[in-house]
Amino acid sequence: MLMFGSLFKHKKQSGLGAGCFKGFTDWHSHILPDVDDGFSTLENSLDALRAYEQAGVVSVWLTPHIMEDYPNTVFELQEKFVSFKEAYFQDNLSRNAGFCCLNLNLSAENMIDNLFLNRLEKRELLPLGEGRLLVETSYYSAPMNFEAVLREIQAIGLIPVLAHPERYMYMDNAYYARLKRMGILFQLDLPSLYGMYGRLSYKKALYLQKKGWYDMTGTDLHSIEAWNQMTK
Ligand SMILES: [Fe+2]
Repeated sequence: MLMFGSLFKHKKQSGLGAGCFKGFTDWHSHILPDVDDGFSTLENSLDALRAYEQAGVVSVWLTPHIMEDYPNTVFELQEKFVSFKEAYFQDNLSRNAGFCCLNLNLSAENMIDNLFLNRLEKRELLPLGEGRLLVETSYYSAPMNFEAVLREIQAIGLIPVLAHPERYMYMDNAYYARLKRMGILFQLDLPSLYGMYGRLSYKKALYLQKKGWYDMTGTDLHSIEAWNQMTK
C-alpha cells in the first residue's frame, strides 16, 4: 500500500502510470474469464496477465463475484481456476518472453446477501490468503445486520476485508472508524485515485489513506481497457 502513497497527489482524471506496479500484488481483480461481469474471454484475460508481467506485477488474486446475480460455487471456481492457470503457464512458456510467471491465486469477492449467509453457514468460502475474507456491500445501503454478519465472519476465524470502502455512499467517517475499531481490513480500489468512481469516492480515498486505514490495494480490474486507462 505504501508504494502508492505519493500517487494521492496525482492529478485526478489521469491514470497512474505503469511504473508504479513494480513488485505489486493485486488483491482484487475480475480477470478469471467468463464467471462474472469481468473478463469474458480467455484471450482477453491472458492479454491482461501479459500486461501485468510487463508492468512488473508479481502476484494476482483472482476474486470473481459470488452474489445472488453470480452464484458461483467454490467448486466451479476452483475448476475454472485450475484450467485458467494451466492456460496462462502454457502461454507464458510459449512466449518465452523473459518475464517471470505471475503468482496466481484464487479467492472471491463476496457480496453480503442471502446467498452469502447460506455459504457462511456451510463454510463454503474462498478465503483471501490465510484467514481473510473479501466482502462487499451495495454502494447505497448497508446490508441488514451488517456489523453482526462481520462478527459472525470473525467468529469462524476469518478477518473480513472490506472491498473498496471509499465507494460506499452510505458510509461516513464515523462509520469507517467503527469498522476499524472492529478490526475490519480495508482494500483500496486503485481507480478511485484518479476519479473513475467520482469525486466523493476520490475524496473518501484521500481521507482513508491519510488515516492510514488501508491494508491492501487492488485494481478491481474488469477489462483490458480499464488497465490501459489506469496505466496511461
Ligand atoms: Fe470487484
